[in-house]
Amino acid sequence: MKLIDGKAVAAQIKLEIAEEVKQILASGGKRPHLAAILVGHDGGSETYVASKVKTCEEVGFQSTLIRYEEDVTEDELLGKVCELNENPGIDGFIVQLPLPKHISEQKVIETIDYRKDVDGFHPVNVGRMSIGLPCFVSATPAGILELLKRYDIETSGKHCVVLGRSNIVGKPVANLLMQKAYPGDCTVTVCHSRTKDIKKYCLEADIIIAALGSPEFLKGDMVREGAVVIDVGTTRVSSTETKSGFKLKGDVKFDEVAPKCSYITPVPGGVGPMTIISLMRNTLLAGKKGIYGYL
Ligand code: GUN
Repeated sequence: MKLIDGKAVAAQIKLEIAEEVKQILASGGKRPHLAAILVGHDGGSETYVASKVKTCEEVGFQSTLIRYEEDVTEDELLGKVCELNENPGIDGFIVQLPLPKHISEQKVIETIDYRKDVDGFHPVNVGRMSIGLPCFVSATPAGILELLKRYDIETSGKHCVVLGRSNIVGKPVANLLMQKAYPGDCTVTVCHSRTKDIKKYCLEADIIIAALGSPEFLKGDMVREGAVVIDVGTTRVSSTETKSGFKLKGDVKFDEVAPKCSYITPVPGGVGPMTIISLMRNTLLAGKKGIYGYL
């Protein structure tokens, strides 16, 4: 069994991005600038956004954090999105999800200029991704593919089972892995909360992407010998073992599943660090106007 070290891969890519930023600046280019909008004080969102801002600093990007209280109106938020769309100094921006119930996430996403949508959530980016055109690919699926690539894991002709059908992970990763490319060329099955006998599908899988958000869902008896298991779960559970008072639990019962795998990602230190680094890559691309040209 080989542990896929997302933390180490992310650290390597961070150096690569930082080097590229230095070159851009040395040749008179502009420092890439990411803005993030954070609404409310959800613990998970606070942590993720703080991590994004910190990583921007580490790779040499400029970052701007815009905060709103939980009771911000949809109109006010949409107004800020339009302002960021128009601001030539901002290369890309994200609105951290989830948003409070009185705000339509879909409306917010569709208001973002797709050319600045470094999260890859806008329907233009999702649509282009699904037919293999250049676009911003959302960060978690991009991070998963990068791990498969950097560990040289064979995907062509493999049966990949994706657990979960979210717009952020399940759907896009299933789509990317079925495309005629490497990593890709998989036969993909998507399982979700209404799937009958998930175990049957998992036992037929060469690659399992677990993205249900259900702690320790995937047990040892659901995985066949030699499978590749990618754990996307990051449920926060309270814990007395950590200073913060919580720890992250994956969707995989690691102790049972790991001995059967050829490769497996841990939680934390697997997919998580790759998600943030993929956002940085998209921001670098946005700064270079590398997909949609000059705005
Ligand atoms: N909430 C959970 N994951 C994400 C993400 O990748 N981007 C944004 N904007 N919100 C999230």
